[in-house]
Amino acid sequence: MKPSQIQILLAGLLVDVVSSQAPKCPDYSIYSKSRHEPFSSGKHALSSARPAPSCRTFNSTTVETLLSNMTLALADPDLYRLFENTYPNTLDTAIRWRGHAADNRAEELAFIITGDIDAMWLRDSANQLQSYLALVEPDPAAANQPDSIASLYRGVINLQARYLLTAPFCNSFQPPPESGIPPASNPAAASDIVFPTYDKSAVFECKYELDSLAAFLQLSTDYYETTHDADFFGKFLWLEALQAVLETAKSMTAPTYDPDTGAVLPSAYTFTRQTTRSTETMANDGLGSPVRETGMIRSAFRPSDDATMLQFLVPANMMFARYLGSAKLIVDALADRAPAGLADEMAAFSTSIREAVTKHGIVPVVSTNGSGVETVYAYEVDGYGGAVVMDDANLPSLLAAPLSGDLSNIDPVYVRTRARLLSADGNPYFMKGSVLDAIGGPHAGPGMAWPMASIVRILTSNDDEEIVRVLRELIGSTDGLGLMHESVNSNNASQWTRQWFSWANGLFGQMILDLRVRKPHILQQSFQ
Ligand SMILES: *[C@@H]1O[C@H](CO)[C@@H](O)[C@H](O)[C@H]1NC(C)=O
Ligand SMILES: *[C@@H]1O[C@H](CO)[C@@H](O)[C@H](O)[C@H]1NC(C)=O
Ligand SMILES: *[C@@H]1O[C@H](CO)[C@@H](O)[C@H](O)[C@H]1NC(C)=O
Ligand SMILES: *[C@@H]1O[C@H](CO)[C@@H](O)[C@H](O)[C@H]1NC(C)=O
Repeated sequence: MKPSQIQILLAGLLVDVVSSQAPKCPDYSIYSKSRHEPFSSGKHALSSARPAPSCRTFNSTTVETLLSNMTLALADPDLYRLFENTYPNTLDTAIRWRGHAADNRAEELAFIITGDIDAMWLRDSANQLQSYLALVEPDPAAANQPDSIASLYRGVINLQARYLLTAPFCNSFQPPPESGIPPASNPAAASDIVFPTYDKSAVFECKYELDSLAAFLQLSTDYYETTHDADFFGKFLWLEALQAVLETAKSMTAPTYDPDTGAVLPSAYTFTRQTTRSTETMANDGLGSPVRETGMIRSAFRPSDDATMLQFLVPANMMFARYLGSAKLIVDALADRAPAGLADEMAAFSTSIREAVTKHGIVPVVSTNGSGVETVYAYEVDGYGGAVVMDDANLPSLLAAPLSGDLSNIDPVYVRTRARLLSADGNPYFMKGSVLDAIGGPHAGPGMAWPMASIVRILTSNDDEEIVRVLRELIGSTDGLGLMHESVNSNNASQWTRQWFSWANGLFGQMILDLRVRKPHILQQSFQ
């Protein structure tokens, strides 16, 4: 028995001794650290990692039907177990609270956590729901039910809108007061000096990340394109939040210096933190490295929550432009209820960002073999010719660009960029190893490969050999726990970070559902 299992037993006994109530549900951050029977029958003997039905945070009969349907589609017992554990993980464990706004009982709210912190990230919650997009009820009567996946979407969109109106530069937020859940403390942020200032009872952390703004547009687009429910977007705070997003993004297109006078311009956002990690604070007393005006939008932090080295983060600009263009269609559908000129402004901004990405985001680099030069997408640029050529596992990434239709996976610049990013000679954050060959990032550091990047590699590949190889690595990467970790030592599966990372779990499930359509024969094969 592992020590953590003894702890659970002791914790259970204590609960029984101090109260005569039914034993409480185990804390999932502890539960997910140990293995639970029955194990899968394959060589990896994977844990049964779903919480007991009475401890699940959201019940969906559609998901349960899908899980049983997939027993035929997935021939390998370890792969099936991994799907069964991971796909429902957000619903099983991370729907922390659902309810209605205190000032409007018609306004649904849903507070979704990523894992062991009682805080909601804009990016993570949008991605967590994306795993269930295909299950949003097409029938309006079903979609209006309070226990529907559609209701969960509406609740997250409404809460994100509230958050964006509260503090549009921030990335992670506290539980809504209606939930009665106390705000989480964030010791890491104690020394932060952030402009604009924010209220710690509403905000968990205030790192300005362009992709957090894009996440709201993505979530809204996903819901609208699936339900065509334009009416919902006219009812609550969505239009106001959308305008806050636009205003925030536009303020961050400004350069560092006034081009005429050379004076340093005031920045709409600055951030410093006392820390020993360079990725946790911004250079130049919170301004970041200088940028020239390019038409791209600055991002202080990356989707990993690490500071950017150069502020024009290319994949976040691609994502923002892409979902600004699609969110415009919602504004079109709202017709008179939307402010005049808003849709046109969105379309023009989307186009100008795309043009700037093409002009400034593609850079020449020396080929990895040392002879000749090739052009690839940079991860970050500054408008001065400076470029950071790498990729980070977190989404949005360059590798993932085809997933949202930012780029085609046969676009020649993407194909070259992808080959470089998946090479230990071309990407300083590509981790090579016997367990997992995958992109990582500074967040978990060198040597730590991210399963999320392997999942994205499969989702962006048409090559059966590549898909099978990477899938085999993922199945062997869980240390027997049967869940996707945040990162894994590329040479030792028993060294990993984060036992409970519901976003990566959902993404694994989404990838299996994608393979069921694109490559069903691969799911019929054995991985033993
Ligand atoms: C889910 O269903 C189980 C019964 O199978 C129940 O005990 C549990 O409370 C339900 N969870 C929610 C969030 O309704
Ligand atoms: C499960 O399979 C049945 C029969 O093929 C199908 O009608 C149903 O739509 C499937 N449900 C889900 C959620 O996949
Ligand atoms: C080096 O790489 C470039 C670009 O991929 C290629 O065109 C060239 O043929 C390669 N040269 C050698 C010697 O392999
Ligand atoms: C892998 O990591 C575990 C846990 O840190 C350690 O006990 C083990 O010795 C490592 N294995 C190898 C081959 O280094």
